Amino acid sequence: MGAQQAQVRGRFAELYGAAPEGVWAAPGRVNLIGEHTDYNDGFVMPFALPHQVTAAVSRRTDGVLRLHSADVEGGVAELSLDALAPGGDPQWTAYPAGVVWALREAGHPVTGADIHLSSTVPTGAGLSSSAALEVVVALALNDLYELGLQRWQLARLCQRAENVYVGAPTGIMDQTASACCESGHALFLDTRDLSQRQIPFDLAAEGLRLLVVDTQVKHAHSGGEYGKRRAGCEKGAALLGVDALRDIAHADLDEALARLGDEEVVRLVRHIVTENHRVERVVSLLHAGDTRAIGPVLSEGHASLRDDFRISCPELDLVVDTALAFGALGARMTGGGFGGSAIVLTEATEVDTVTKAIEEAFAAAAFTTPRVFEAVPSAGAHHLN
Ligand code: GLA
Repeated sequence: MGAQQAQVRGRFAELYGAAPEGVWAAPGRVNLIGEHTDYNDGFVMPFALPHQVTAAVSRRTDGVLRLHSADVEGGVAELSLDALAPGGDPQWTAYPAGVVWALREAGHPVTGADIHLSSTVPTGAGLSSSAALEVVVALALNDLYELGLQRWQLARLCQRAENVYVGAPTGIMDQTASACCESGHALFLDTRDLSQRQIPFDLAAEGLRLLVVDTQVKHAHSGGEYGKRRAGCEKGAALLGVDALRDIAHADLDEALARLGDEEVVRLVRHIVTENHRVERVVSLLHAGDTRAIGPVLSEGHASLRDDFRISCPELDLVVDTALAFGALGARMTGGGFGGSAIVLTEATEVDTVTKAIEEAFAAAAFTTPRVFEAVPSAGAHHLN
């Protein structure tokens, strides 16, 4: 039994007076390519991190939900299932409570739970700590209550918890990544119909590394900028007479842009259409075994997010510029933007040089010291014991 797992079991017993019925884990993610495409019915390609939320859970029969987290100050929160309602909870408890609400709303007979959680996913770093929290609870309740839901269905319910209960207008990528990723693979996901392909992604075997650089600039999705981008994309789709920007083929982009008057909408549409194309290019390059060649595609993606989608920030740009100047193969911001993390693809032999260069550039700019770690494609959500 892993240390995190044993600790979570032990603490559950202390808090609730009996051993849990089970322990589950769900990971955070990084997105390799395909940013802000998920609410445009487009393509994404995340993979799971080894960082995860672990949950010890037991059922209850009295309509009560008790929640406790090892990572947040405070005691056990006790909620009545009948009183759960969207929008009322500004705390972390809204994520697990939202999942229970979404399950019950969909008609699943969940009658209560005791839950203790512990996370190693950095929060506010663009690495999907909230999706991991949602998915671990959904999977645990699915197993314990024998609901028989599939992974993609759990992801949908978690997205509903986040959109409606918590009130953050996010897409489906993060929850699907946490629920469906497989170790050693990136997940090529079509967010229109949730069809998926596991793409082998073993960087170490090729002498490569993917670094995550957490800028420590905190982002927040319920803030207005994410919603504004989403509304702008929907406006673009409406002006172009399509259901979603996914429906604009890359070959038709120039013609589509020429039909749009609004410069702001032009930039958003250009990002989404070129980004979907970049995901497809990365899939083909990986399929052809040309992993190094994905580097420039990642860097193009960053330029598009910075200049067209306008969701980067000085710290993210500094990571990308420095990494590329010191020999990285490619680099880009990852996740929602406005802070959070960047990814850097580099030769294994250059990891120290690139890391040192980024740290020194941050020190010279008087930015907070970034946290750099290697990302190894890890397992999606699973039952531990
Ligand atoms: C956040 C959202 C996702 C997705 C990304 C951007 O992580 O939760 O749904 O939109 O931003 O790609």
